[in-house]
This record gives sequence, structure tokens and C-alpha cells, in this order.
Amino acid sequence: MHGVNLDQLGRRDPAIYGSLTLAELEQRIERRARELGLETSFFHSNHEGAFVERLHELSEQADAVLLNPGAWTHYSWAIRDALEIAGLPALEIHLSDVQAREEWRRTSVIGELCFATVSGRGAEGYDEALALLREELQRSAA
Ligand code: DQA
Repeated sequence: MHGVNLDQLGRRDPAIYGSLTLAELEQRIERRARELGLETSFFHSNHEGAFVERLHELSEQADAVLLNPGAWTHYSWAIRDALEIAGLPALEIHLSDVQAREEWRRTSVIGELCFATVSGRGAEGYDEALALLREELQRSAA
């Protein structure tokens, strides 16, 4: 799940976010997921309520969630609560190294609900995130 402003990848500072568009990033994720035997479904919105409502439906449609909520990460208690309601294994991901940027980016309101966070590794970070997600799913199925 991609949150606010992630549809602007390709226009945002490539030194921070890389040069892939969101469509290209999704293709990369899908390819890697397929190699790992995972089935993907993507969602993006710039509207917090739409993001929340997608999380409400998610437990019937997915086994786990990989999410980059963009700036919502840092302050959206509504998304935090919706993620808790979803009740799925969740992994937080950021393209940029949020800990090494502005102070306000160092807070994550969803971090406590996620079994792992991957940040600062650009598009490649999704490779690691998918591998971690698969391990987590295998662990919970065992
Ligand atoms: C981001 C980091 C956030 O701080 C920022 O607001 C974003 C993208 C990232 O992927 O690095 O929009 O989540």
C-alpha cells in the first residue's frame, strides 16, 4: 500500500526517492514477489479516508501488508488505528532513510504495529521487505 504523494515518484527528488515511477516500482515489486511465490495486490491513495477504508477491507483479502504511508507515517493516528483493526502481519517501508532526515520524519505512528521496518534502501529495500514478509508468513503458518 502506497500512501500520500507516492504517485509522484519520478517527479520527486531522485537523490532521495530514486528515479522509478510508482508503476515501475510496482512492476519491480511484482516480479520479485512472484520469484518468492507471493501474490501481490497494490493500492495507492492520496486520500487518508480511502487508505483507511482499504485497510478495513484488507483482512478478507490479504495475508499480510507491506505499507509505505508516506508523510501519514509520521502523524496519522487514523491510519495507525485502521492498521490495528486490519490485524495482519505488517511491514513498514520507506524509500528514503527517514531516521537521517528531518526530525519530524523520525516518528512513526505505525511502527509499533509492524514486525519490521525497512528504510533508506530505495526500490531495493522492497526486495528485503518481501523476503521478510515471506519469512513472517511461513513462521505464522508453522
Ligand atoms: C517516505 C518518507 C516520508 O517521510 C515522506 O513523507 C514520503 C516518502 C519514503 O518512502 O521515504 O512521502 O515514506
